[in-house]
Amino acid sequence: MKILTQIKAMQQLSREWRRAGEGVALVPTLGGLHAGHLSLVAKACRHADRVVVSIYLNPTQFGPAEDLAAYPRDSAADERLCAEAGADAIFRPDDSEMYLPGASTWVTEAALTLPLCGQSRPHHFRGVTTVVAKLFLAALPDIAVFGQKDAQQALVIRRMTRDLNFPTEIIVGPTVREADGLAVSSRNTYLSASERRAATGIHRGLTRAAEAFKAGERDASALVGSVRREIIESGGRVDYVECRRNDDLREVTRIEEAALLTVAAFYGKARLIDNVVLTP
Ligand code: PAJ
Repeated sequence: MKILTQIKAMQQLSREWRRAGEGVALVPTLGGLHAGHLSLVAKACRHADRVVVSIYLNPTQFGPAEDLAAYPRDSAADERLCAEAGADAIFRPDDSEMYLPGASTWVTEAALTLPLCGQSRPHHFRGVTTVVAKLFLAALPDIAVFGQKDAQQALVIRRMTRDLNFPTEIIVGPTVREADGLAVSSRNTYLSASERRAATGIHRGLTRAAEAFKAGERDASALVGSVRREIIESGGRVDYVECRRNDDLREVTRIEEAALLTVAAFYGKARLIDNVVLTP
């Protein structure tokens, strides 16, 4: 497995592969790799001949009061896990490689980034779209794999890819969960033992709502209300619980097409997100 830190070297390697007729997949990550990331690497291996995992803790997608400094990093463990998962290369640039002094160009998506996490984290998605565009231009991938855990992010990246004509197919992998249903996340390491137990309220709320939906409930506010109650009862603080169309994120009152029931909630200091797709 190769480890590259320079954009030029990454582009050159990707071009070599492509000249040899090999398809290239990219799995972008912030590092601190866990089972969720590794499931995407495995998926990438099934869809492409060569797999690049980018590991870059992108500062521009964190707000000034957010957890950039505390974010888990362990490059030795990340390397081992990528090699075991079958990656061909890690692209691990540093900040000076990714953002030149005086960099003043941003990629912004101006519709799907407005609600949900865009409300609570105002500059977050601008950082995400900019860095993902830059990672695409470094790794030159035929496909890129993202996780459904960050459903809004996946929709935003799909839209950006379409709108800017990136020749990259976006693939989304399902959310990997702990045995008790909690979505695997780097931010779970911020939870104390009691917060960790309480945080199962998110998945319980979403699962019960999905069951009510299966049993015929189509009123979005009833489903939203039940998730909200479950989170509050478990000891969480709701940032948002919303039901939106699963393509353009427009608000939904009655569910007649695929809808995203999506949550952000605080347990202690950790802000956790999760979602379920409701398909009539
Ligand atoms: P990060 O949080 O490291 O996540 C990298 C990828 O792993 C994302 O596509 C995310 O949706 C996916 N992922 C995280 N937890 C998952 C889980 N439990 N199951 C399945 N997939 C999961 O998302 C980012 O990094 C960044 O915003 C990035 C896209 C790399 C841009 O900096």
